[in-house]
Amino acid sequence: MMIRKSLVLGTVSLLLFTSVVYVGVSSGAKDAGGIPAEKVADMLYAVIQSNRAFYAEHVVERMQAKGAAVASENWRSEKSLPLPAQFLQETARLSVNSKAKVGYKLISLWPINKQNGPKSESEQRGLMATQQNPNRPYTEVVMNGPDSYLMAIYADRAVSQACIGCHNSHQDSPRHDFKQNDVMGAIMIMVPLNL
Ligand code: HEC
Repeated sequence: MMIRKSLVLGTVSLLLFTSVVYVGVSSGAKDAGGIPAEKVADMLYAVIQSNRAFYAEHVVERMQAKGAAVASENWRSEKSLPLPAQFLQETARLSVNSKAKVGYKLISLWPINKQNGPKSESEQRGLMATQQNPNRPYTEVVMNGPDSYLMAIYADRAVSQACIGCHNSHQDSPRHDFKQNDVMGAIMIMVPLNL
């Protein structure tokens, strides 16, 4: 178990692959040495957040500070970098189509992009729960056709002035009074339970 765990932490791709295999094991037999799905979600959350933070600080902010490039929503047609939120959504698109079928998404009760609003009662419940208890992820098992998933929702806070500056002034934002450290939305992670 110790060796397996250290392997899991080795690389991102190994993490995705190995952990999902173990979820398969653990959902059937909890004592088979599998990692509980909640733990897998926590691990994925750490990786997703780290990638986003690194990209935001060392690519977007650095390039902007040096006057080399700016980030903008229309990065595909303009000569600009994707926004960190778009970077996350684009990598999520690749992940969900991978064998691991793991999904993740930024969602909010006040989304700039309407596609990022809650799409089900479970998502709505998760957003309300993390709004009230931001330090604890909300989890629920949800079905998508015959497939079951652990849905884990983690509060997404306004960690910097840039978050609130952009969201409060954005023309498509339904809310303009975010303050530093407010919960702006959440990262939702879907861990498949019956791969
Ligand atoms: C330069 C502008 C900008 C900055 C800075 C920014 N965002 Fe966003 N954010 C956006 C845009 C635009 C979207 C919608 C992207 C899309 O089309 O999915 C978005 C999406 C989101 C969403 C999904 C819900 C929604 O509004 O569509 C969350 C949650 C979010 N951002 C949180 C944050 C946090 C937390 C920070 C700071 C760490 C941050 N944002 C920084 C522009 C910004």
